[in-house]
Amino acid sequence: MSVHVSVRPREVRAPPEPYKVKVVEAIPDPSLEQREAALVRGGFNLFNLTSDEVHIDLLTDSGTSAMSDRQWSAMMVGDESYAGSRNFARFEATVQTLTGFPHVIPTHQGRAAENLLFSTLVRAGHIVPNNMHFDTTRTHVLRNGATPVNLVVRAAYDCDDPAPFKGNVDVDRLERLLDGEGRGKVPLVMVTLTNNTGGGQPVSLRNLEEVSTVCRAASVPLYLDMCRWAENAYFIRERERGQGSRSIREIGRSIFDLAEGATMSAKKDGLVNIGGFLVTRDAALADKLREALIVFEGFPTYGGLARRDLEAMAVGLEEATELPYLEHRIGQVRYLAALLDAEGIPFMRPPGGHGIYLDARRFLPHLGRKELPGQALVVEIYREGGVRTVEVGGIMFGDADGGTEISEPLELVRLAIPRRVYSASHLEFVAEVIAKVHRRRNEIRGMRMVHAPEHLRHFTARFEPLAPPAPAEGAVASARPRRAARSRGSRPA
Ligand code: F0G
Repeated sequence: MSVHVSVRPREVRAPPEPYKVKVVEAIPDPSLEQREAALVRGGFNLFNLTSDEVHIDLLTDSGTSAMSDRQWSAMMVGDESYAGSRNFARFEATVQTLTGFPHVIPTHQGRAAENLLFSTLVRAGHIVPNNMHFDTTRTHVLRNGATPVNLVVRAAYDCDDPAPFKGNVDVDRLERLLDGEGRGKVPLVMVTLTNNTGGGQPVSLRNLEEVSTVCRAASVPLYLDMCRWAENAYFIRERERGQGSRSIREIGRSIFDLAEGATMSAKKDGLVNIGGFLVTRDAALADKLREALIVFEGFPTYGGLARRDLEAMAVGLEEATELPYLEHRIGQVRYLAALLDAEGIPFMRPPGGHGIYLDARRFLPHLGRKELPGQALVVEIYREGGVRTVEVGGIMFGDADGGTEISEPLELVRLAIPRRVYSASHLEFVAEVIAKVHRRRNEIRGMRMVHAPEHLRHFTARFEPLAPPAPAEGAVASARPRRAARSRGSRPA
């Protein structure tokens, strides 16, 4: 694997892995012909590909983590009792210790927690503010007849702004909303850590304190979407005055102490393949949520999961707070950023916690908004090297969704890095593929949507190239890096 990669500048060093490998999984290597066929069969939507058609999968960091040996051994102590399993007791105690929230409601994943919370608290005519809603969060708000409002700071929409906390809430706008038209109409305020939709950017502790003060003054509960809270805490530790010597767990407690509760997809900072939960301080609300839980998910001591899953989640939640793990994790994102930077590739800065977000408008400036530049880029990156990414822009948050006109100012392509899965050489390969697409960017044509579902359309939409696809000139016949070309130090054509 020690191939020389042309895009790596000498001064850029890959972060050393704080683990060694015990089990390996072969990576498929579809040919260019297979990739072309897969695109056509899948309606140019990469959610429709089979994993055998993907070489490097950066579709999501959710549920794609490699579990540790400690987590796998935790699976073996699963006590599969329907009620009162000892795994639930361990899981509950872990979540209570990490977060300080007394009521812990397990769910099979994050959106199930959102469903319980929003269907219980949100009614038609309500307004739900968030720094930026993730797609499932937004859809739950819409499904309950309410209006999602994004109140992130302006810097979030400027890919070049180097501000350290671009996930922050615009507190003045929140205050105006709660004083004005939102008075009595806001059942809860949410803040998403980190801001996935806006580049995985963190929220500062200071901003959370201000949001919490405003919410308490208006008697509106503050809930956190804590999917990537440990990554967020890492940035707080690194960038916020006075936080540098505190542990991730201490910072976490400072964060959680400011809120009434939280939803969690443990598929992110819980390092499991499935799992989530909902936590709250409100005992009466917890009773209602548990009633809904029994109908939709299962008994309160398993919540739609096997008990062994709860045990693995308890271990994963703790491992995700360890500094060597987080240093490597964020280091991988920064390594990929440095490789892309050396090639002049436009992406959201500073790099976020769980991936790189390419700026599709600047990558493909010749394509207008209607020509779906994000999706065109997603398709070309796959065509070039079998790398699967996802559009986070006009399609995910576009006009037709829920019948709401939302002008989305960002058009991004996310390269989400699964936790503990890929090596530095995989990231080098990804950078090389993107650099090759960048060199032939002027030939890339737009796309149009030929099937547009009403909600969450990026999952099932189908597309067509606007003109016959440009021949993938110089596309490697196999997705695997070519050792011979590299060893001559030559650039891929
Ligand atoms: N909130 C945020 C911020 C998310 O990123 C996700 C999922 C969810 C809630 C829902 O959690 O998937 O466990 O139901 N994000 C994944 C992604 C799907 O690719 O970013 P879930």
